[in-house]
Amino acid sequence: NTIPEVESILKRMTLDEKIGQLNLLTPGGGVATGSVVSKNVEDKIKAGQVGGLFGVTGPDKVRRAQEIALKNSRLKIPLLIGSDIIHGYKTTFPIPLALSCSWDMGLLEKVARIAATEATADGINWNFSPMVDIARDPRWGRIAEGAGEDPFLGSAIARAMVKGYQGDDLSRSSTMLACVKHFALYGAAEAGRDYNRVSMDHVTMFNYYFPPYKAAVDAGVASVMTSFNDVDGIPATGNKWLLTDVLRNRWGFKGLVVSDYTSLNEMIAHGLGDLQQVSALALNAGLDMDMVGEGFLTTLKKSVNEGLVHEEAITQACRLILEAKYKLGLFGDPYRYSDTSRPDKDILTPKHRTAAREIAAHSFVLLKKHNGVLPLKKTAKIALIGPLANNRNNMLGTWAPTGDPQLSVPILDGLKNVAPNAVITYAKGANITDDPVMAKNVNVFGTRVDIDKRSPDIMLKEAIALAQRSDVVVAVVGEASEMTGEAASRTDISIPASQKKLIRALVDTGKPVVLVLMSGRPLTIPEEFDLPISILQVWFPGVEAGNAVADVLFGDYNPSGKLTATWPRNVGQIPIYYAEKNTGRPATGDEFQKFKSNYLDAPNTPLLPFGYGLSYTEFEYSDLVLNKREIGSNESITASVTLKNTGNYDGEEVVQLYLQDVVRSITPPKRELKGFNKVFLKKGESKKVVINLSPEDLKFYNSQLDFVAEPGEFQIYVGTDSNANLSSSFVLK
Ligand code: IFM
Repeated sequence: NTIPEVESILKRMTLDEKIGQLNLLTPGGGVATGSVVSKNVEDKIKAGQVGGLFGVTGPDKVRRAQEIALKNSRLKIPLLIGSDIIHGYKTTFPIPLALSCSWDMGLLEKVARIAATEATADGINWNFSPMVDIARDPRWGRIAEGAGEDPFLGSAIARAMVKGYQGDDLSRSSTMLACVKHFALYGAAEAGRDYNRVSMDHVTMFNYYFPPYKAAVDAGVASVMTSFNDVDGIPATGNKWLLTDVLRNRWGFKGLVVSDYTSLNEMIAHGLGDLQQVSALALNAGLDMDMVGEGFLTTLKKSVNEGLVHEEAITQACRLILEAKYKLGLFGDPYRYSDTSRPDKDILTPKHRTAAREIAAHSFVLLKKHNGVLPLKKTAKIALIGPLANNRNNMLGTWAPTGDPQLSVPILDGLKNVAPNAVITYAKGANITDDPVMAKNVNVFGTRVDIDKRSPDIMLKEAIALAQRSDVVVAVVGEASEMTGEAASRTDISIPASQKKLIRALVDTGKPVVLVLMSGRPLTIPEEFDLPISILQVWFPGVEAGNAVADVLFGDYNPSGKLTATWPRNVGQIPIYYAEKNTGRPATGDEFQKFKSNYLDAPNTPLLPFGYGLSYTEFEYSDLVLNKREIGSNESITASVTLKNTGNYDGEEVVQLYLQDVVRSITPPKRELKGFNKVFLKKGESKKVVINLSPEDLKFYNSQLDFVAEPGEFQIYVGTDSNANLSSSFVLK
């Protein structure tokens, strides 16, 4: 189904002009995440050598860029204007890993909708989001940017985000092209080291890593970004099996494929040849647009002349880029994203900030509660301690280049806003880290970690003195923003030593302690978890950080978040995920068993499982009932369970359903999430919660990579996390 307007432009284009459209540049105004920043951008636009830009924001600047293209280039083709709006534009929401912990697709769609409204008001028409890479290794810093470890939940989130960004009509000036990334398997980088190679069998790819990308494609995502890693030994950017056989032929993707930042050129370092060779390889594999590296721009014509590339392949790539512009309505009105009246009306509105506060509260996970200390009384004497307690620089988290940290609400301010009658004293207590190497490495990307001029001992003493005079201690500790994110992998994912010492000292005062933990990844916290304290995981909460944390600490919102990535006991357990397979020698229980699959020095079980999260109230599950005992291949089945709020507060619970395919032709995971339902119950209230399983939910990719359901017994488990033990079974005939 070609678009006549696009075909008519294509007919008039020279080979050079077509190649020009495949070129995506950045003048460096955004985040330069590679060593190259584009040069002579204006001249290249005038010469028709640029199809799109990123790192240009503001309706004026975008208008100016479009004018350069329209007034000077021969064919007057408008530009795509891209950006990374990963968790909000100016209204920064919590990091994506946090957002996923809400398990609330309505809220996730709202986040994307608000991001699209704000970004388009500032001239952007193409968003390099959602990032849907499955990650089972918390050493990898970019785990912060995705939805965690699970393909079922990750797929639901991918659909919600695409819908939020693109809406139902891309030609509306408040919607933009989404770009699902990073295709593929980027989250499986060996040893959790960013940009590292990936080694994975196809059955694992199809069953566990591909589903969220496919879900985005099925939801109509307009573009796909390739990943930096190799797949089967060929970098994704030049991998024909991935980009053509899987993405286009198998999944029917019709949009455009863009490389990551110089990932085309990086195929030289991967060892696949010189720039001309890797550019030809990438184009022939199915890459349409080259981000920053100019490999296409500088070599494709030569490759056509030498017969390495067919002009038709260039025409096809160009067609897809022009079609994206057409869908945005840019040919009708190239200035549709350049309305100078919009930023004031649409960006960082009070309504958006309210949404950011509400959504942040929904993303927090109560990891531990102790002695009924939480929620706090609004009249308490609170010692607020910690390097992240009165800190604006670290509230937004990674990949928030369009947000302004100085607009974020520190935790101290939030507590004062929500509980003006509380007596709150503050001390820093410790540095985020005392390790100068870590501080230096983190600060490469902006000043997030400052090592205080005072001695650690003096800071600690001050904090202890405040704690001793308080009713309760709230310690806000964890990672600096840039300790996670791109190129921010860690081999030790515990709380930095300076803060561990602080926590110990605060607990030793004998005062009740609430740990407010910030991080962009699961941390290893076995020692802290054993202390007699409460722990609220708040990730990086975004622009409304302090207000949202205070809403939850004081009980205005009862926490309901559930972990979407497993928290290991130690790094030696990584990769760790709930949907593991049995092995032929499964160990049972946490005791060591010789000649079974386990460790001498630690149990197999994680510290905190996928799906885990507490509430101020308690929930009781009972009466799991399946509406059928046997089903045919086209039939659905429904599970219902009674959920009762038996505690003292109203609250929400995410009811989770896991499925085990007991016997099948390839080894099944012990269980897999196949349904969930977030419900609100008043205190004392009971509800029947229903979860439906469709015929598709029973299917998997077999060794031939056919998507099938095999007859036999299925076990289901329903409950509060991935250890759910209320169970029943049915048979697929
Ligand atoms: O979109 C990003 C990607 O996630 C990492 N490399 C740079 C791109 C553009 O900023």
